[in-house]
Amino acid sequence: MAPIRGYVFDAYGTLFDVHSVIEAGRAITADPATLSATWRQKQLEYTWLRALMGRYEDFWAVTEAALRYAIRRLGLAATDAQVRRLMDAYLTLACFPEVTAALERLAPRPRAILSNGAPRMLAAAVASGGLGPHLQHVLSVDAVKTYKPSPLVYALGPTAMNIPAGELLFVSSNAWDVAGAQAFGYQVAWCNRAGAPAEELGLRAHFEITRLDQLPT
Ligand code: LAC
Repeated sequence: MAPIRGYVFDAYGTLFDVHSVIEAGRAITADPATLSATWRQKQLEYTWLRALMGRYEDFWAVTEAALRYAIRRLGLAATDAQVRRLMDAYLTLACFPEVTAALERLAPRPRAILSNGAPRMLAAAVASGGLGPHLQHVLSVDAVKTYKPSPLVYALGPTAMNIPAGELLFVSSNAWDVAGAQAFGYQVAWCNRAGAPAEELGLRAHFEITRLDQLPT
């Protein structure tokens, strides 16, 4: 494989812990872990469905729709103010503990985020995690108005960084996102934090790690 000249990171689940919304969920349920898992799964489903239907709405809208569905699906009730507080938790998600040191270690090669997140959501999460100094690009699917795993999305990385996909390492904790990036032509690393089985999509990640500080330099 070609030497790695830059790094492209997925955001949610990879740099930012989406389940850090669990604390906010306690206000409406005794089982906030189930709320968080249902919310996340439905959020991803809605991105895939909207992409296939050609009906893009940004990730903030999709995330709120998924939350409202999850609340009804689990038989919960929430006021608009409680929904707002849960949504606002998305703007201040916790980073996984090793993220800052892991990004620093990869310097001076350029590091980017490439995410489904709406620009405003990504800007807020990057600022709240203090990641700004460690990232040269924060790229959102909003530029192409569709969602991962569309090739239109993965093309944003090589274009912005002016480096071919085969010389970039794409890093995600989401196995389906790793498959999408690999199908596009990136070198890929799957950060398999949860010890999940590999997807059956006929693609095996070039690198499998469990924490971002294990990334190859
Ligand atoms: C993202 C989702 C896939 O950040 O986690 O793009």
